[in-house]
Amino acid sequence: MKKIAVFTSGGDAPGMNAAIRAVVRSAIANQLEVYGIYSGYTGMIEGHISQLNLRDMANIIQRGGTILKTGRSQDFLKPEFRKKAVDNLKNLGIEGVVCIGGDGSFRGAHQLYLEHKLPIVGIPGTIDNDIWGTDNTIGFDTAVNTALDSIDKIRDTAASHDRLFIVEVMGRNSGMIASYVGLAGGAEEIFTPDFPITVDKVVEKIKSAQQKGKTSSILITAEGQKPGRAYDLAEQLRKKSNMDAKVCILGHTQRGGSPTAADRILASRLGAAAVDMLLQGKTDIMIGTQGANLVFLPFEEAVNKTKNSPKDYLNLASVLSN
Ligand code: F6P
Repeated sequence: MKKIAVFTSGGDAPGMNAAIRAVVRSAIANQLEVYGIYSGYTGMIEGHISQLNLRDMANIIQRGGTILKTGRSQDFLKPEFRKKAVDNLKNLGIEGVVCIGGDGSFRGAHQLYLEHKLPIVGIPGTIDNDIWGTDNTIGFDTAVNTALDSIDKIRDTAASHDRLFIVEVMGRNSGMIASYVGLAGGAEEIFTPDFPITVDKVVEKIKSAQQKGKTSSILITAEGQKPGRAYDLAEQLRKKSNMDAKVCILGHTQRGGSPTAADRILASRLGAAAVDMLLQGKTDIMIGTQGANLVFLPFEEAVNKTKNSPKDYLNLASVLSN
């Protein structure tokens, strides 16, 4: 193998740049030429691909976003566009690809392997941490800390005004961010898509907290299928018990910012391991971590199994907020 390419795909995540840097510098250390594919699968289809060198990687380890840009390509769902994408890579002599993204991106990568036998490995990069088989995805730790910083600030004003707040965090199909910030932020209750709780239960919890002398509370909800779920909850609380809840939607603030040390280290380890895997002839796999170890598992397993919210964190948060 002489030439490989790297791209980022799906929602951006802090630490993606650190991962690109690790791929490029490890590849060059192994005498490979490395190419960057711009704007995810769109750039692969359109041939927006150019060579990267060591100095292109200077000063990016600390930057949020992705220097390669990213996107969610609808065209790539069609086989004719996937064929065009692979032809572009072949014309440049690219023999292996590193995909940095989430489950949707890995589905595309798996398809490229099935249809064209393209050597391709994946690095999990998404703030959602919703990928089976890895403890963490790149960007999750930063997003949790960003959300937590806001929640701590909301706590100040909630306490000063004796108010109830509902804070909505990201996670379309995943309650991971909600569970972590809920436990770390001392939330009264946490709404996740996979372990639903009733509004009645929340009303009961808030009333009992008030009887114990609590004057302010914070509820955390994952956004679920569409942003704005917190407003629905506030409306239900008002209708059920005349409670007045303030809503704060943290939205895309969670996707930006300088990556934490944990995300930079994860990205650096996974980026270097991705190059090793390609050099060893491994393909159609995702590289993740379990405990202190690097793990390798087929894309098919990573995308078809579901990572649930940590139920023990949800239970603990509920007990500790009494
Ligand atoms: O990348 C994951 C994520 O941030 C989800 O948490 C969120 O639901 C979604 O992306 C939002 O995507 P977009 O920025 O395309 O609206």
